[in-house]
Amino acid sequence: MNNTNGKKAYVKKMFSELAPDYDRLNRIISFNSDRRWRRRTVQALFGRKIVLDLCAGTGDMAKALLSDSRFQGMVVLSDFALPMLKLALKKLKKFQGRVFLICADAEKLPFKLEVFDGAMLGFSLRNLENLNAFAREVSRVLQPGGAGVFLEIAHPSNGLWGKLFYAYFYQLMPRMAGIFTRHSQAYRYLPESLKIFPPQKEVAALFAREGFCESRYENLWGGMAAIYNVKK
Ligand SMILES: C[S@@+](CC[C@H](N)C(=O)[O-])C[C@H]1O[C@@H](n2cnc3c(N)ncnc32)[C@H](O)[C@@H]1O
Repeated sequence: MNNTNGKKAYVKKMFSELAPDYDRLNRIISFNSDRRWRRRTVQALFGRKIVLDLCAGTGDMAKALLSDSRFQGMVVLSDFALPMLKLALKKLKKFQGRVFLICADAEKLPFKLEVFDGAMLGFSLRNLENLNAFAREVSRVLQPGGAGVFLEIAHPSNGLWGKLFYAYFYQLMPRMAGIFTRHSQAYRYLPESLKIFPPQKEVAALFAREGFCESRYENLWGGMAAIYNVKK
């Protein structure tokens, strides 16, 4: 699943170049709703001690988790695009001592077995080359009882709502990105990545097959996005 030759190199280069504009564009194309979705996603990790933020980018998932006083643990951010991580480091300065960053491939993690009791990811399942490899790696580095929570753009179930959403995501959003940034090519890639990404049920079933005893999803905004909750 999700196996496209050279995808990894393409994605790494794309996000490395996009880094300075990434946050601003996210706010614009999601009409600021990404922040609300992130806050909701990270709730599943309150009470955890050491959480791995996969494909962490500029650190918005980590920021959502660390900014809530119900979370007192540490976050290890990992991403293979260094320019994205550098921005995360700046953004998370005030959480110094609770934040660690590492440049790494999410499909081949440089961690020992069962190091983390929580894992999270925002908007990057679609970008992975091999979702099965990712799921196996997350399962490997999570302790038994560890929780994973992954937020991703998804496929709305309702016909009319789906049509509206796809019209926005496939047609309007790349044009908006073209107006607000030099990176319209990147935002033409993103709709394509959703076209080949499986529906929520299949993604949840994949996690269940790849080492998680619990795997379920919750739709947000009628399935425009989904939160996948897994437990090892
Ligand atoms: C859409 S951004 C998401 C960033 C952040 N998680 C967020 O919520 O805004 C995707 C990020 O995933 C990273 N990425 C994609 N595939 C990766 C992989 N195989 N290993 C590590 N990072 C990856 C990219 O470099 C990029 O920073």
